[in-house]
Amino acid sequence: MSELAAFIRGLPKAELHLHLEGSLEPHQMFELAQRNNVDIPFESVEEVRAAYQFNNLQDFLDIYYQGANVLLTEQDFYDMTDAYLMRVAEDGVRHVEVFFDPQTHTDRGVEFSTVVGGIATALKDGRQRYDISSGLIMCFLRHLSEEAAFETLKQAEPYLEKMIGVGLDSSELGHPPSKFARVFEKAKDMGLNLVAHAGEEGPPSYVYEALDVLKIDRVDHGNRAMEDEELVRRLVDQGMTLTVCPLSNLKLCVVDQLTDHPLKEMLRRGLRATVNSDDPAYFGGYVVDNYLAVAEALALDRDHLAQLARNSFTGSFLPTSDQEKHLREIEQYLSGL
Ligand code: HPA
Ligand code: ZN
Repeated sequence: MSELAAFIRGLPKAELHLHLEGSLEPHQMFELAQRNNVDIPFESVEEVRAAYQFNNLQDFLDIYYQGANVLLTEQDFYDMTDAYLMRVAEDGVRHVEVFFDPQTHTDRGVEFSTVVGGIATALKDGRQRYDISSGLIMCFLRHLSEEAAFETLKQAEPYLEKMIGVGLDSSELGHPPSKFARVFEKAKDMGLNLVAHAGEEGPPSYVYEALDVLKIDRVDHGNRAMEDEELVRRLVDQGMTLTVCPLSNLKLCVVDQLTDHPLKEMLRRGLRATVNSDDPAYFGGYVVDNYLAVAEALALDRDHLAQLARNSFTGSFLPTSDQEKHLREIEQYLSGL
């Protein structure tokens, strides 16, 4: 392992943008397909990997929703979540706030309780097993209707204590945040934190809508905010956290090459950017791989990397006292080098 990789790995950090369904590795997809007798259109793990070539977000989503078909039982959701936690425990990850997409499963006839039950139990067990604290964020699929999102929020009511927030994902273009204004208002009234994917493929106006109409607490991606000076200033002034995903941006052609990635400029402008993996099984890397790839492409130094790690805790929904504990751990790590 290079010195830089070892430094990043040892840095205490949180992951704030991770879709659990996107952590399902090809070998696990085969295992579950076999266990559940589900047909998948691939013969081998190599064939699956070869199919993971995307020109845009929709290309990816088409194959990602297909991959989720192997998830049927509470044990499947448990195993997927546990595998992710076990993997990132090696990477110095101390806290995670993870997404799941209930509609991807309930629309296939899997019960909401099966999905949440498996995930929430694995997260709870992971607090002891891996010493990783966690929060669960339920995402609405934005290509589906407002009515379907309301129905999903209603299904979540008995499980609210297992969730810290709601989010918005799936096909961004043509599905602006304002489509879900009333659902987000209701979720806020229910005491949930609010996040939304905005400015991944969508224009700066979608980021404005996420702020002004949805009243979100954190922006997922946010890359295209960089096209609008006034928006950047506003995000800086509000201390808004952006959950940036470099390898995802590369794989989905949001940037042509990592050397074009806006992360360093985001930090220079004072934006509270964080680094995350999004869908690691599909985009070729977990959180440390993302830090490392973008550090090498943009010549980030240790100060940049430490700032990204600090941002991951200050941008989390942890209570301030817990955030401070993690920030002290970062300073201890840096001073012990
Ligand atoms: N964008 C939108 N929807 C998603 C993503 C993403 O990056 N990953 C999983 N669902
Ligand atoms: Zn995402």
